[in-house]
Amino acid sequence: MSQRTKIKALLESEQTNISVTVKGWVRAFRQNRFIALNDGSTNNNIQIVVDFENTDPGLLKRITFGAAISVTGELVASLGQGQKVEITAKEIEILGDCDPEEYPLQPKKQTLEFLREKAHLRFRTNTFGSVFRVRNSLSYAVHTFFQERGFVYLHTPIITASDAEGAGETFHVTNFDLANPPKTDGEIDFKQDFFGRATNLTVSGQLEGELGAMALSDIYTFGPTFRAENSNTTRHLAEFWMIEPEMAFYDLEDNMNLAEELLKYLIGYVLKNNAEDIEFLNQRLTEEEKQKPQQERSDMSLTEKLQFCLDNDFQRLTYTEAIDILKESTPNKKKKFTYPIEGWGTDLQSEHERYLVEKHFKKPVILTDYPKAIKAFYMRQNEPDASGRETVRAMDILFPGIGEMVGGSQREERLDKLEQRMDEMGIPKDELWWYLDTRRFGACPHAGFGLGFERMVQFVTGMGNIRDVIPFPRFPKNAEF
Ligand code: 4AD
Ligand code: MG
Repeated sequence: MSQRTKIKALLESEQTNISVTVKGWVRAFRQNRFIALNDGSTNNNIQIVVDFENTDPGLLKRITFGAAISVTGELVASLGQGQKVEITAKEIEILGDCDPEEYPLQPKKQTLEFLREKAHLRFRTNTFGSVFRVRNSLSYAVHTFFQERGFVYLHTPIITASDAEGAGETFHVTNFDLANPPKTDGEIDFKQDFFGRATNLTVSGQLEGELGAMALSDIYTFGPTFRAENSNTTRHLAEFWMIEPEMAFYDLEDNMNLAEELLKYLIGYVLKNNAEDIEFLNQRLTEEEKQKPQQERSDMSLTEKLQFCLDNDFQRLTYTEAIDILKESTPNKKKKFTYPIEGWGTDLQSEHERYLVEKHFKKPVILTDYPKAIKAFYMRQNEPDASGRETVRAMDILFPGIGEMVGGSQREERLDKLEQRMDEMGIPKDELWWYLDTRRFGACPHAGFGLGFERMVQFVTGMGNIRDVIPFPRFPKNAEF
């Protein structure tokens, strides 16, 4: 393969009157003369000027929307408006034809729903080009953030025998013949399965992450997690990526500080390093908002929202304080909530979270100290308050338009308290013997959290549906591609 230069570099080039080769996909071909070529390095196309009078008409016909071509020519200052440079073609080669009659993409706006069905081709649109370049940048920034702070990137297993969250939403992993699994006394005998026991895809790397933190001090995971929850929402996937830092000697306050710092770092990183894509997505969202009725429109643009998050402290309050606010809120008094807030103790619904974040505080909110009964077994137990209410050192970070972005806690490091809670919740202690060992040998206070990566990509790109920020979404009744 001959050397070629990426279009982004050419468009930024200070040098002209040099010979260059570009390769990419045709976005437009006007007047048999001007090709707009894109190679995914940027949403901006490079213009190629074709000397059509001296070019084989057979070749000109093959320069169609979507075709892959290679062009060698001279990079020159552009005479036309809209671009600084263009290429005067000397040699054009068709690398891959694209029949416009058959090609599912059209050189016009197509809906996100339609493009989701064509996820194998949607990278070729400006919207998805921007989304996936931003997603890439965010991944890189996650690593940079933690590496700069001395955290160890720990690879926790994808296949495991534990259900870390205890929610029973796991996908089984087996190589049994499902029509005829071996049985003992009428029950499926997992001893004969590949791993000699029942296994599943991980829902979270946290428990193994804690083992790492109990020696390496600060670790983080960044990998795929799987949940068999039948949620058909714009915020849930069956396969999503999660970032889970775990820190020895951290309490809940330290944990909140780190999470807020991380979220701001990621937003700042993208604003600085992906300015062009963010500006494109900003305009896309502004257009989309115009289609909505006035009262549903956001009063801030995407870039304003991102900047606002950077410039303001997240609002921190306890679950109990939040319940008091919600109880007294207008929608609650006017019976506008589908789930009215009556007492203390129930989980917050997304309508309540949205009220707190979007209406009451109008900024990201960190809720802490949730009722013990609605949270996972591993969270550190608070002393009951004066009225005997039992809470745990949990924290959820809620974002405008997204809801829960982060879930975390200080961990229960006291063996007796942890065992008691596991018994109460029916978590098998014998299976988690290795987890309990960390509380037996050199236990220490520690904390961590999980950031849902796709929800972060959603927030930063302004995309309304989580299925549009992961290349090939997995959700109920869908595993295409
Ligand atoms: O709140 P979750 O379930 O917490 C945990 O898994 C903990 N083990 C994390 C920890 O403390 N290390 O999930 C964490 C985050 C949520 O706040 C949300 O952003 C995201 O993961 N998340 C999902 N994202 C997309 N699709 C789903 N089905 C998700 N479930 C959770
Ligand atoms: Mg949660």
